[in-house]
Amino acid sequence: MVEPNRISLANLPTPLVRLDRLSRELDAEIWLKRDDLTGLELSGNKVRKLEYVVADALAEGCDTLVTEGTPQSNHCRATAAVCARLDLHAVLLLRPPPSNHIQGNHLLDVLFGAETRAFEAEQFAEQRPAIVEQTLAELRAAGRRPRWTPMGASEPLGCWGYLHAIRELVEQLDARGLAGCDLVLAVSSGGTCAGAVLGKLLHHCDNINLCAVPVSDDVAFHEAQTAELCQTTIDCYELPIQFDPSAIQFIPGYVGEGYAIPYPTALDALRLLARTEAIVLDPVYTAKAFIALLDAVRARHLGVDRPAVFVHTGGVFSDFAWPDLLTMK
Ligand SMILES: Cc1ncc(COP(=O)(O)O)c(C=O)c1O
Repeated sequence: MVEPNRISLANLPTPLVRLDRLSRELDAEIWLKRDDLTGLELSGNKVRKLEYVVADALAEGCDTLVTEGTPQSNHCRATAAVCARLDLHAVLLLRPPPSNHIQGNHLLDVLFGAETRAFEAEQFAEQRPAIVEQTLAELRAAGRRPRWTPMGASEPLGCWGYLHAIRELVEQLDARGLAGCDLVLAVSSGGTCAGAVLGKLLHHCDNINLCAVPVSDDVAFHEAQTAELCQTTIDCYELPIQFDPSAIQFIPGYVGEGYAIPYPTALDALRLLARTEAIVLDPVYTAKAFIALLDAVRARHLGVDRPAVFVHTGGVFSDFAWPDLLTMK
């Protein structure tokens, strides 16, 4: 096995906490793995991935990170934050273009000094490889040494973040005398989920029932995405495991009308957690995955004979881009 270098950016281990009020209310054991607390401005799941991607960029002598996302992308904001902290230049390819009313994650992109380049969504979708190549070529011509990482840093190197997070979680479960858990997380660009699958297989965690909730695409898409990302990572780093699709279960039905389109039951879940535990989810990823967990717990499918642990992957800054929706009754 070839283990890549990482640099330390996140506050690890993140807390594993029992949600006392909610557990009482639902007569179940509900816990939270607080990856929203990986570090204040660097909060969320992306930092674990960037610890590896940035280590690689620095080892290659790069001075610029280039990535892509929406104006409310948590990944772009985390990349901008990491770059500010490490004196690197961040170039964010944003689609669609941000509105003139700068808010939420994009406000932080700007504060962290990232350079943003805006594209229409259709143009970007049609010409993505050419746009990326052209951006990198322009930066090289200007004397920079750029490193590209795709949406969500969901490349094989980025998968190491959650591969290690699983080991961290297993140690925390052991320390609390918990024999295993139903582990629920949101899946979109795929690196968090693929990393968790690899961590589960590598550390032989048969007692972790891993459940991923698609928030942007259907289950067939994510099954194929996870298989491909896991296999490429296994091959790249000679991991002594075989990908096994039964290591992960996808929970369908929680995308709603599409990516980044919030819906009422997910917002109810967000408000419930805020009111019972003073913990804040986001409307794009974690609220959709958390309502999936709540529904499964209420139906006695999860959290019955072992705790249900939700991975809070962060995203809180995008709440500030949806104030009307979040306060609507
Ligand atoms: C807050 C949050 N949760 C979950 C996810 C999903 O993780 P991934 O893109 O690795 O599937 C993302 C990013 O896409 C995110 O920003």
